[in-house]
Amino acid sequence: MHKIDMDLVEMTLDVMKYTIDRISSSKIKIGKPKKEEELRELVGETVTEKGIGGEYAFNLWKKHLSKANVPVDHPRNLAFVPASPTRTAIMFDLVTSASSIHGAYWMEGAGGIFCENEAMKWIVSLTGLPKGAFGVFTSGGTAANLSAMVTAREHWREHEEFRGEKGLIITSIGAHSSIKSMAKVIDVDVLLVESEDVLHETELQKTIDNLSKDERKRLFAVVATGGTTNAGIIDDLDGVANVCKKENLWYHIDAAYGGGALAADSVRHLFNGIEKADSITIDPHKWMFSPYDCGAVIYKDPQLAKNAHSQQGSYLDIFKDEGAHGFNPTDYQIQLTRRVRGLPLWFSLAAHGTDRYKEAVERGLELAQIAGKLIEADPNVELVRAPSLSCVLYRRIGWQPEDYTHWTYENHRKGFALVTPTKWKNGDSYETVSRFCFINPDTTKKDIQMILDSMK
Ligand SMILES: Cc1ncc(COP(=O)(O)O)c(C=O)c1O
Repeated sequence: MHKIDMDLVEMTLDVMKYTIDRISSSKIKIGKPKKEEELRELVGETVTEKGIGGEYAFNLWKKHLSKANVPVDHPRNLAFVPASPTRTAIMFDLVTSASSIHGAYWMEGAGGIFCENEAMKWIVSLTGLPKGAFGVFTSGGTAANLSAMVTAREHWREHEEFRGEKGLIITSIGAHSSIKSMAKVIDVDVLLVESEDVLHETELQKTIDNLSKDERKRLFAVVATGGTTNAGIIDDLDGVANVCKKENLWYHIDAAYGGGALAADSVRHLFNGIEKADSITIDPHKWMFSPYDCGAVIYKDPQLAKNAHSQQGSYLDIFKDEGAHGFNPTDYQIQLTRRVRGLPLWFSLAAHGTDRYKEAVERGLELAQIAGKLIEADPNVELVRAPSLSCVLYRRIGWQPEDYTHWTYENHRKGFALVTPTKWKNGDSYETVSRFCFINPDTTKKDIQMILDSMK
């Protein structure tokens, strides 16, 4: 299994050919999921005592299994938050895997971590956080939010009077589901400000003023969103910063999706106030064109993260020794062993330069504006709200929720597009609407028009 022989060489060539074809293809297909029984019928038992052979297994992958996936980088995949890793970054993902680097400690992964840190410096510079701020790459936004929340909670509990308390955080209903899920993981309560629109300073202050004495004692953090997943809404980041400062609360901003737009000069001002955060989540695997998985958590004071996350063990002492010392990414987030997942981003940034990133993000913003105009010109559809960042919510006049569902399945079945419905809070009730999220700069005006036409 670990020997080098002709079979290995041939398999390497096959895999390289497949990879080259995929990276250089401009005509990828939207695959369709199949039921597990159907896939089993097609491929049979694959993990057996004697093995089925690499060539046979790879053929099963090419013929059946690869086709049951929806590539996130298809230009008409506008569902959820899609992705569009650069071809250069994907290539370097192969190099990252082939290099077998343990990315937890400088002692083992200095070269890789150095590159990650170069990319991180650029991301931190976009936030405007003060000198000393820094971050690490995580497996995604959920892990970044969790790492930040643990840091905030541990910092709060440094004070004797809070040590036995169950924490409380405030966010809005526009916040991503991971904030609520990760609050469960760390066993803290979440109070939701009842608005899916911009979370404003006054609303937040009013919510805090209405807390009971016990709740106020337990409140330790506020989470604002820099680009909500559903609608691309950016909270009043400066106003929330004022409240956090006045009330002495940790200020976390979840910009997992929207953070890429910090690179775009046209909308950078909408994020004013982000430089006052204690921690920020930004996902390069969303709008920074990195392959999965690559999130990032950034701290104003990284030492606080280190206090919360640094793992101790006699077998780990050597990593912290003078001789081995350098930047240890494991100290600032929840994982110990980690892939140097910022490496593909670094290579792509180094190869193309940051201006190309700005242009690619601006294109996503522009596509949302183009979609807005096409929707306004089409009598069958109307905007639910003005496009925000690269998200567009719109309704097909006269459609019921099931019509959106059927339409989504039909487009998917045909291998034409993946556009999924969502809900938007309208007064006291929720309306089912359609949603575009643009990331891929290769999406065209014609793609958008074709999708709208398919609603006729
Ligand atoms: C605002 C926001 N936060 C967090 C997440 C979770 O990120 P991940 O899926 O990388 O864990 C998402 C995912 O879409 C998001 O949009």
